[in-house]
Amino acid sequence: MTESDRRSPWPREQRLTTDVVIVGVGGMGREIYGVIRLLNARPVDGTSWRVLGFVDDHPTEPNVELVRRLGVPFLGPTRWLAGQPSTTRVALGVGHPQLRRETDQVLARYGLPAATVVHPAAEIGPDCVFQEGLFAAGGARVTTNVALGRHVHLNQNCTVGHDAVLGDHVSVNPLAAISGYCRLGDGVMVGTTAAVLPRLTVGRDAIVGAGACVTRDVPAGTVVTGVPARPVSRSAADARPVVMPAHGREDEVDHPA
Ligand SMILES: CC(C)(COP(=O)(O)OP(=O)(O)OC[C@H]1O[C@@H](n2cnc3c(N)ncnc32)[C@H](O)[C@@H]1OP(=O)(O)O)[C@@H](O)C(=O)NCCC(=O)NCCS
Repeated sequence: MTESDRRSPWPREQRLTTDVVIVGVGGMGREIYGVIRLLNARPVDGTSWRVLGFVDDHPTEPNVELVRRLGVPFLGPTRWLAGQPSTTRVALGVGHPQLRRETDQVLARYGLPAATVVHPAAEIGPDCVFQEGLFAAGGARVTTNVALGRHVHLNQNCTVGHDAVLGDHVSVNPLAAISGYCRLGDGVMVGTTAAVLPRLTVGRDAIVGAGACVTRDVPAGTVVTGVPARPVSRSAADARPVVMPAHGREDEVDHPA
């Protein structure tokens, strides 16, 4: 038995065919891992994954311990990716849109393709196009003729209606509803259970607070909350979590969940 046999949570006959490294030991990275496990248990078209482990430049000890409990190696900082074969994919498990964008930019130096991870209970309808790095959690529903940018995260039980266009690094959080013909700019976060009414535009890097109902266009960089949603005095930049992405500064040690 090899060392990788001992580490693998799966028996050899279920070994994955595509190697993937998850970036970020926080909650989002571990959720992506959970979906990959499900996909391996029910492979579609014979496709399966081998999770080499997690990387993170500023992991917290509790998160590393949680990764260890999943039976997956923590491989170290993101530079571990250097020299990986071009067939190895990266799953970007950073929840906050802007931090995900920054991590994506740093990971570009390694030239590895992004993993697209879609839960078996997520639904992507006809004529929906998406860029690499899509993560769709269980119960996420994308109806028809939708365009999704790079590294879009669709969290549990969210919906994206017909003809919507979501830019790169958008996060739609659990139970949020994006109506038909909506346009969400790059880096937008729509909070848990929020709704965006039809044909509205939410500008780049704006944040729709949890539970909000958006009834008017939202300017770029704005935070809106409430029903109907109204801008708050803090900008989206101020509302950014005091954490760094996986390649963050030395003086910041936490990692987004
Ligand atoms: C809107 C949001 C971005 C504001 O973040 P923030 O700037 O850090 O705000 P704070 O937590 O400091 O709260 C500031 C004030 O806004 C209020 N507030 C925060 N979020 C709110 C929301 N969604 N709706 C209404 N009021 C809200 C707070 O109660 C607080 O009010 P107070 O000053 O009267 O005490 C954030 O609260 C939010 O809703 N994020 C979405 C998170 C989410 O969906 N997570 C799911 C992960 S899976």
